[in-house]
Amino acid sequence: MEGMLKEGTLKGKTIIITGGGTGLGKSMGKYMLELGANLVITSRKEDVLIKTSEELLQQTGGKVLPVACDVRKYDEILNVINKAEDEFGQIHGVLNNAAGNFISPTERLSHRAFDIIVDIVLKGTYYFTLAAGKNWIAKKQPGTFLNIVTTYAWTGSGYVVPSACSKAGVLALTRSLAVEWAKYKIRSNAIAPGPFPTEGAWSRLLPGDLSNQFNPADRIPLKRVGQHSELANLAAYLMSDFSAYINGEVVTIDGGEWLRSGGEFSHLEHIPESVWDQLEKNRK
Ligand code: HXC
Ligand code: NAP
Repeated sequence: MEGMLKEGTLKGKTIIITGGGTGLGKSMGKYMLELGANLVITSRKEDVLIKTSEELLQQTGGKVLPVACDVRKYDEILNVINKAEDEFGQIHGVLNNAAGNFISPTERLSHRAFDIIVDIVLKGTYYFTLAAGKNWIAKKQPGTFLNIVTTYAWTGSGYVVPSACSKAGVLALTRSLAVEWAKYKIRSNAIAPGPFPTEGAWSRLLPGDLSNQFNPADRIPLKRVGQHSELANLAAYLMSDFSAYINGEVVTIDGGEWLRSGGEFSHLEHIPESVWDQLEKNRK
């Protein structure tokens, strides 16, 4: 899969990616570097960030600044913003991608387990948004937020309830600020991915033998999971000036998964062709 945007699309832009050392954050960051962006990657594990930045530098030749930061700590976020500006001058985009998640029946969760997900996903996103937004507004600089949610932000989902509550909050934040901060030339958009294989997600959402029992591709009308480059293309577009008139949108990239789950008769796909043949014969 190739990158879709032309060379230099993000040249001169500085983009911060939370959770940028692994998984989807790393893949989106790599493509943004290829398009000429300066990247700041941040998460809790400094060793992972340093390793990723060295790898990305080698692969793309682009500039990557790793800064350790727990998104639940406002002071650490301010430190990322300061370091990014010291290194690159101005920040142009923030990709709120960091998350925590696990599967569990809700009645088995402690209140601390619920807190931990809400604190990373919802609080982490509004902390970063508040810090970066205030900075842009004070300096009269335009900016772009891109928030990674998922489709159960609007459908809800059992067994990942803290994550569903948090992603719903992030979606509300995205749409609310798209309107309120447009006057400051700050755009806010979101992407709702369906399943894209990453170590972080798969180990927590399909732990143990579950990965042998459930194949996420079976739920998806296109019968496959997403490829990182497909998400990276979309994220780079929404971060770029090509999407300058898109504000307050959530773009779903899930092969049709969530609509299928909602369709009253979608389960009929399990009826074999021979049965359809018989029904047609009876009708005629
Ligand atoms: C129930 C759990 C649990 C689990 C932890 N806890 N794991 N409860 N089931 N599997 C409880 C603990 O018992 C504890 O509560 C509390 O949560 C905090 O646990 P810690 O282990 O101390 O937390 P910490 O070390 O900070 O780790 C945070 C984490 C971890 C969220 C639990 O998984 C993590 O670091 N995740 C980051 C990356 C990640 O999750 N990536 C996947 C994103 S995928 P008590 O009461 O015992 O103190 C994603 C996909 C969405 O979002 C859509 C897919 C289609
Ligand atoms: P991942 O690799 O586990 O990414 C999560 C990242 O968040 C990690 O880099 C982690 O790094 C960071 N993080 C966690 N807690 C943090 C904290 N307190 N402060 C700062 N950073 C923190 O999983 P992924 O699959 O790439 O997920 C990326 C995003 O896509 C998430 O928002 C997820 O909800 C979303 N998503 C994924 C899928 C999928 O199928 N993969 C589908 C829909 C949505 P540290 O551990 O170093 O902090």
